[in-house]
Amino acid sequence: MSKKYCVLSMFLAACLLLSLAGCGKKKDKKKTDTPAVKYADKYIDLHLHLDGAITVDIAKKLAELQGIELPTEDEAELTKLLTVSADCKSLNDFLKCFDFPLSLMQTEEGLREAVHLVADNIKSQGVIYAEIRFAPQLHTNNGMTQEDAIKAAIDGLKETDLKANLILCLMRGDGNHDANLETVELAKKYLVEDGGVVAIDIAGAEALYPTADYRDLFELAKSYNIPFTIHAGEADGAESVKLAIEYGAARIGHGVRSYESEEVLKLLTDKDIFLEMCPTSNRQTCAVEDMSKYPFMDYLGRGIKVTLNTDDMGIEGTTLAEEFRYMEKEFGLTAEQEKIILENSVEAAFTTDSVKEELRKQLQD
Ligand code: ADE
Ligand code: ZN
Repeated sequence: MSKKYCVLSMFLAACLLLSLAGCGKKKDKKKTDTPAVKYADKYIDLHLHLDGAITVDIAKKLAELQGIELPTEDEAELTKLLTVSADCKSLNDFLKCFDFPLSLMQTEEGLREAVHLVADNIKSQGVIYAEIRFAPQLHTNNGMTQEDAIKAAIDGLKETDLKANLILCLMRGDGNHDANLETVELAKKYLVEDGGVVAIDIAGAEALYPTADYRDLFELAKSYNIPFTIHAGEADGAESVKLAIEYGAARIGHGVRSYESEEVLKLLTDKDIFLEMCPTSNRQTCAVEDMSKYPFMDYLGRGIKVTLNTDDMGIEGTTLAEEFRYMEKEFGLTAEQEKIILENSVEAAFTTDSVKEELRKQLQD
């Protein structure tokens, strides 16, 4: 064989080997054809406080509607007034941020419009279902009764296209036992399976007013068959979560500190109790000292039914989409895990089976 043919046949043999090995253009093309991982772009927020979801935009609209003069017109100053400062050290500090947004919701029209605007806002961010919670007793400073407040919030739901329900919060605190009792009675009166008041909760300073002090109220709620979630294991320890489960809570608000007790972790899995976790809130209130030890992924891995929520998106300066992106970036949350979390949210929702079916369909689209 001449030298020229020898080189040519070596070249052809090399090409054959390369194509048998799957190298070359075809493989490159296949690589670029691989579909991108589809992270969540539709969300369910089960833990969202109305007074914590007032953005600057919404505050301006509520003030204008009611002829309320804002303390400042300056965007940056208003943002400062509505959001938590970087030096927040505890839930007690965090809870000081709510007076201003609450001052804009002391009339029926203010409260109704707040529900409407918050619901529209989160819908525009990809939320397909939300349970908006508020404490009727915090809206009675200018003459509204708790019942007026509940009716106004229900009217607000009718003004939005977002599929949403309401949770009535009792409040931890001094001297408000009668007000809390009234909220339970009103929850019984207004309870529906969907399209209004669907459950109760208790919010406020857990470290100062322990869950143990509220047994009678949740026993009453249980006797009325009112579903409930309880803020627990956020500023207080795992014992608080254990009590909430004992009272009959179907869900726990946060439950971050459940890791302090193996017994409580086992109760959560055995009883299929859902955790409404809210990472940015937990970081800002220092519910965990070191965020690198945030237990969300551990709970998920153990099969605890965790859900991902905002808590107080206005005060925290977040959205539910941002909470998902945060968990992806900081903790490697995968698209598959996001599906599990959203399925948990559907299962945990205080609504009817038919609404849940509809939500499952929407999540698959
Ligand atoms: N009210 C609003 N946000 C709260 C939280 N994270 N804990 C208790 N009460 C609240
Ligand atoms: Zn909360």
